[in-house]
Parts: sequence; structure tokens; C-alpha cells
Amino acid sequence: MGENQTTTQTRKDDHIRICLDEKVQCDQITNGLEKYRFHHVCLPELDYQEIDISSQFLGKKVDSPLLISSMTGGTTNAQLINQQLAQIAQKHNLAMGIGSGRVIIEKPEVASTFKVRSHAPDILLLANIGAVQLNYGYGYKECLELVKILEADALILHLNPLQECIQPQGDTNFKDLLNKIGQLCENLPVPVIAKEVGNGISVEMAEKLMEVGVQSIDVAGAGGTSWAMVESERADNPLQRQLGKTFANWGIPTADCVANIGHKYPDIPLIASGGVRNGLEVAKLIALGADLVGFAYPFLKAAMESPQALDFLVNLVNTEIKTVLFCTGNKNLSLLQHSHCLKTSLSV
Ligand SMILES: Cc1cc2nc3c(=O)[nH]c(=O)nc-3n(C[C@H](O)[C@H](O)[C@H](O)COP(=O)(O)O)c2cc1C
Repeated sequence: MGENQTTTQTRKDDHIRICLDEKVQCDQITNGLEKYRFHHVCLPELDYQEIDISSQFLGKKVDSPLLISSMTGGTTNAQLINQQLAQIAQKHNLAMGIGSGRVIIEKPEVASTFKVRSHAPDILLLANIGAVQLNYGYGYKECLELVKILEADALILHLNPLQECIQPQGDTNFKDLLNKIGQLCENLPVPVIAKEVGNGISVEMAEKLMEVGVQSIDVAGAGGTSWAMVESERADNPLQRQLGKTFANWGIPTADCVANIGHKYPDIPLIASGGVRNGLEVAKLIALGADLVGFAYPFLKAAMESPQALDFLVNLVNTEIKTVLFCTGNKNLSLLQHSHCLKTSLSV
């Protein structure tokens, strides 16, 4: 995420510690999914054993729509977390994002803390860098290098204007970025995904990003980890601390982003994330139009606990998704997406 060369590594460990130990989950805005209910089917006419939650995303097969959202890299602690996440991703054939890799270009010696391909040779692996870095000396050459070093299948450009406002010495020149994103998309040999970090992407912004060549959108909407709160916790001056608190619950709820983008652009590879915490919510987002659904904080928490906790999390979420398919009479995710079995609470 927004990075300043001198403190990048401390910042990465700060982020992990704060996300785990402080109250930085949105507390006055939800992901919006409580507005929706599935229509229950009492006689599914399906054999549960035949339910299939695999799909294709950006040309690669995934065994579940669950994505490990971009988090970390750069420190020894981050390396251990990345390795564990990669191993669980490989075991269950899940897609995985790696944390923002700007530091790899600045300090190639830390690349090993991000590199997970040897632990996950087969997965859909996503590199990540802040889009704003395109205004701070990073361009096609650096992005290509990042993708190559990490052996990634696609590049995520994260959009984090609010976080940069609250972060001390944040990178706040977001001028003319759309144009630069477009040039990058035109030249990079892998797909570019635009992602927020917990404040959401509106349908209008998604449209602009797709017009310049972005191939996929990860809405990373509001309702989960609040980066305004995380940066507020890190800030050492009272103004930045209060600023973060004021904007703690800022953004577009995840469900609203996905419903709007999914409705208008049913064919774009759409990722839902931001405050998603179980497989029932994953299924609701698939029904609203998402193709993959990302979790960040729950994976971080489980990774800090044990490999067994990670395995339990993935098994639980996958089973919850299958249970929704069974109890709505849908054999696979594509049928669920086209089934119209998700209703707003008012119309159930
Ligand atoms: C410790 C931590 C570090 C993160 N670092 C990045 C990052 O480097 N790049 C990025 O795009 N998002 C980053 N995120 C944001 C997540 O990918 C995600 O968009 C956000 O946390 C909302 O998801 P959640 O509510 O499931 O946590 C980070 C999240 C956490 C918890």
C-alpha cells in the first residue's frame, strides 16, 4: 500500500500488528449483505456430492471462488505469513494476491519475502502495487519487473486515496492516473486488475477503468478492515489520528458495489471483497455478480494461529458455499449466478 522508502518495512509489520490487535474493523457501516436473503428450496433434486464450486478466472481454473486478498511482504514475519498463505492456496487451488511490492524494486534483497511461487506452483497468483506509484517514478518497466520476479499471472493496481490522506507523508498526487493506467494496460503482457482497499469502487469508476483497458475489478468495499482506522492507529500526530477516526466508516458497502457493477457489466471478471467473513456471504456476492470473493483479515488471523486454522477456514467457507448451492437447488456457481434466488429481505 502507500509506501515511503525509509519506513516501508516497519510499516508492513505495523499493519499486521494493528489489524490483529486494534479495533480497526468498520463499526458503523456494514458490507451491505444483510439486506439479502436466499430463497430456500426444500426439495433441491440434487446429490450434494455432485455440487461443484470450481470456476475459471482470467483463464485459470480455481477450485473455489475464495481469494486470499493482497496483504503483505517485506519482513521476516510477512514472509512466514506469505508462505503459509501460499501453501494453503496451493492445497485448495485458491487464487492469492501478494502485498504491495513497490519495495521489491527499491530493495531487491527483500524480494524473497514476497516470492511464493515455489510454494504454490499452480495457483492464480496476483502481484500488487499502488496505482498512485505511476505518479511517483514507477511505470511499465517496474511493473513488468514485479510481475516477472513474482511469477504472477496478473497485476493488481490498488487505489487508496483515503489511506494516503491519513498516512503521514502519504502519496496524494492522483492526477492523470487514468491515462497512465491505460498506457500500462496496453503494454503489460498480463491482465491488470483495479482494486480498492476497503472503500469500494462505484459503477462509474469501474466503467472508466474498464474503458482504459483494466480487465478486472476488485471492489474491496466498505464493511471490513478500515484503513482509515489502521492509519489513525499508526499516526503519531493528533490531526492525522483524528482524521482517520472521522473517516473510519467511509466508503461504498461491498454489496452495493457488486450489485451495481454486476448488474451493468455481467461479463467482466468481478472480484468482491471488503468485510466478507463467511461462505454464505461469498455465495450472496456470487449471486450478485462476483466471480471471486476475497478475504484479507480472516486469512491473516488464521495464518497467525496455525496451518490447521487456515485449513479449517477454507474447509468451512467452501462447505458454507456448497450448503447454499444445495439449499437453493443450484449445482454450480454459474447456475447460482443466473438463478435469481437471492432476494432483498423486503421481497422474501
Ligand atoms: C495486514 C493487511 C495488509 C494489507 N496490505 C494490502 C496491500 O499491500 N495491497 C492491497 O491492495 N491491499 C492490502 N490490504 C487490503 C486488503 O487486501 C483488503 O482490501 C481489505 O483489508 C479489506 O478486506 P477485509 O475486510 O477482508 O480485511 C491489506 C489488508 C491487511 C489486513
